[in-house]
Amino acid sequence: MKKIGVLTSGGDAPGMNACVRAVVRCATAREIEVVGIRRGYRGLIDGDMIPLGPRSVAHILEHGGTFLESSRCEEMKTPEGLQIAVDKLNEEGIEGLVAIGGDGTFHGAAALAKAGGIKVVGAPGTIDNDVFGTDYTIGFDTAVNTAVESIDKIRDTAESHDRLFFVEVMGRNRGFIALAVGIAGGADEILVPEHNTDLQILADSLKKHFEVGKRSSLVVVAEGDAPGGAQAIADKVGWLVGKDYRVVSLGHVQRGGSPTANDRILASELGAAAVTALDGRGGGGMVGKIGSEITHTPLEDTWTKHKELDTRMLKMLQILAL
Ligand code: F6P
Repeated sequence: MKKIGVLTSGGDAPGMNACVRAVVRCATAREIEVVGIRRGYRGLIDGDMIPLGPRSVAHILEHGGTFLESSRCEEMKTPEGLQIAVDKLNEEGIEGLVAIGGDGTFHGAAALAKAGGIKVVGAPGTIDNDVFGTDYTIGFDTAVNTAVESIDKIRDTAESHDRLFFVEVMGRNRGFIALAVGIAGGADEILVPEHNTDLQILADSLKKHFEVGKRSSLVVVAEGDAPGGAQAIADKVGWLVGKDYRVVSLGHVQRGGSPTANDRILASELGAAAVTALDGRGGGGMVGKIGSEITHTPLEDTWTKHKELDTRMLKMLQILAL
């Protein structure tokens, strides 16, 4: 392989820069030329590309966001858009592509591989951790740590006012962030889309927390748990509990910031593995890490197969929150 492209697509995630850096430096070590495609598939269709060498990725490891920028590109989902993308790759002489993002990104990557005969390797980069074929996605660890830092601060004010807080975290339709943040942040309850919540039972349980002497109580709510999110749940449950309550939505704060060491390491490993996969004899697919092993998963599996949430942790919380 002589020339590859790299892009970041979908929601940005801390560690994407570290992954691009690894792709560029590992490809250079194999004497493969690298082109950075800016703004994800939007930039590919527009032909917005820049040559990348080892020095162009210096000092990006520690920065959040993605220096290549990202987008959610509707045109890529059309046959016309896809054909333009294939043409641009061919015009540029790009033989292989590393696509860093979530399952939406991999849909685009799989379509490119099919329509253009281009070898495509995906690297999982999303704070949501909702991708089958890897224990963790790049950005998840940072997002969880960022949210836990906020929870610790919310707890200070909650305790000072004897209040009930509902804290909404990201995660689209899945509860991976909520579960991790809730356990690490010492939440009293965690609400995730994978588990139905009876609001009366929730209210009774929160009441009990106050009856046993807790001064404050904190509920972590995954954004996809219910229509209207944490606010709607709080408005129903707050008055049932009979406590002064507040709602905080952590929002995009969770997507920014310097990546944790864990995310930098994972991103570096997966970036390196992506180049090895592209330059090897095997087909494309997504590189991931399960346990201590680097894995390769067909792109289609990343969205057709279901990654289980460890709901045993929800049971454990009932004891931890006593
Ligand atoms: O997929 C990452 C994510 O941050 C989700 O957790 C969230 O639902 C979504 O992106 C928000 O997307 P946008 O930044 O386009 O509003």
